[in-house]
Amino acid sequence: MKKIAIVCGGYSGEYEISISSAKVVKKHLDPTKYEAYVIVIQKNSWYHLEDDGTKTDVDKNDFSIKVNGKKVVFDAIFNAIHGVPGEDGQLLGYFEMLGLPYTSSNFTTSALTFHKDFCKKIAAAAGANVSPSVIINRGESYDADKIIKTLKLPLFIKPTRNGSSVGVSKVNVAEDFEKAVEFAFKAGDQVMCEKFVKGRELACTVMQVKGKTMVFPITEIVSKNDFFDYEAKYTAGKSDEITPAELDEVSEIEIKATSAMLYDKFECKGFARFDYILTPKQLVFIEVNIVPGMSEASIMPKQAACMGITLDKLFGLALENILD
Ligand SMILES: Nc1ncnc2c1ncn2[C@@H]1O[C@H](COP(=O)(O)OP(=O)(O)O)[C@@H](O)[C@H]1O
Ligand SMILES: [Mg+2]
Repeated sequence: MKKIAIVCGGYSGEYEISISSAKVVKKHLDPTKYEAYVIVIQKNSWYHLEDDGTKTDVDKNDFSIKVNGKKVVFDAIFNAIHGVPGEDGQLLGYFEMLGLPYTSSNFTTSALTFHKDFCKKIAAAAGANVSPSVIINRGESYDADKIIKTLKLPLFIKPTRNGSSVGVSKVNVAEDFEKAVEFAFKAGDQVMCEKFVKGRELACTVMQVKGKTMVFPITEIVSKNDFFDYEAKYTAGKSDEITPAELDEVSEIEIKATSAMLYDKFECKGFARFDYILTPKQLVFIEVNIVPGMSEASIMPKQAACMGITLDKLFGLALENILD
């Protein structure tokens, strides 16, 4: 019996979503193989959350917990933290130092892919199309007119290190530019202004298990809002997520091949969900999520279901990949 810590929570706007992901993971791990514990990571407290709501502190020296007075050390970590500090690599560096295997990409890949500007630069160098952008750092002056002239309206403004569309705005008129920059700075110290890409939004998950690559069916996201914002992501009925997406064969092959190629170039491990916008002319890479949503309503579980993989199997594979 392997002891698994499902880490969740984190410091970002994705806290609640991460807690839901962890509960779903726990529900679906095979109890004959795994003893799973939900560990919540918050800025000032790391604790084991029991099913009855009891909280007991984690010993940070070795990431152990005490259950009924007995010390429990873990064999592996199931990373279910969307955003900081689980998806950006911070916590993974600590697990690396403790010699604890974890289900997600390593800390280097996580840190690079979580930073939207670094991520796009690597993807572009690997041959993917990305949308032109301009970076503004906190405290730096910027020329809004020049940025608008370069990128044209509408344009997107987003924090470089966040997720779930927190701090993201679509700027349709020049008067809204400054407000959108300030809004993005509430969610991070660096802001990216990005050229709007008009097309279909598509997501493709890749997972490598013991050297074998699986590319999941593609999902098309059709938001009922102006874009796939926080509300559209987490309110039932605010977006349609169509799996498998209706695509011509050439586009489907291009999306799957690009995702598998980027998975290798970024040296991903476990799950990675690649997001794109497909225009009539080209496929534009937007970002990659290395800890994608894992609730029953999330995109990746639906893609897995579409190819006949249950959540029990999906989460089991993530652990088999890192355990002997
Ligand atoms: N350049 C763009 N052109 C068109 N839509 C975009 C662009 N960038 C982001 N979006 C929209 O905004 C959403 C959130 O942006 P994204 O970069 O994925 O940030 P997050 O990490 O918060 O999900 C996307 O799912 C998409 O709907
Ligand atoms: Mg996104």
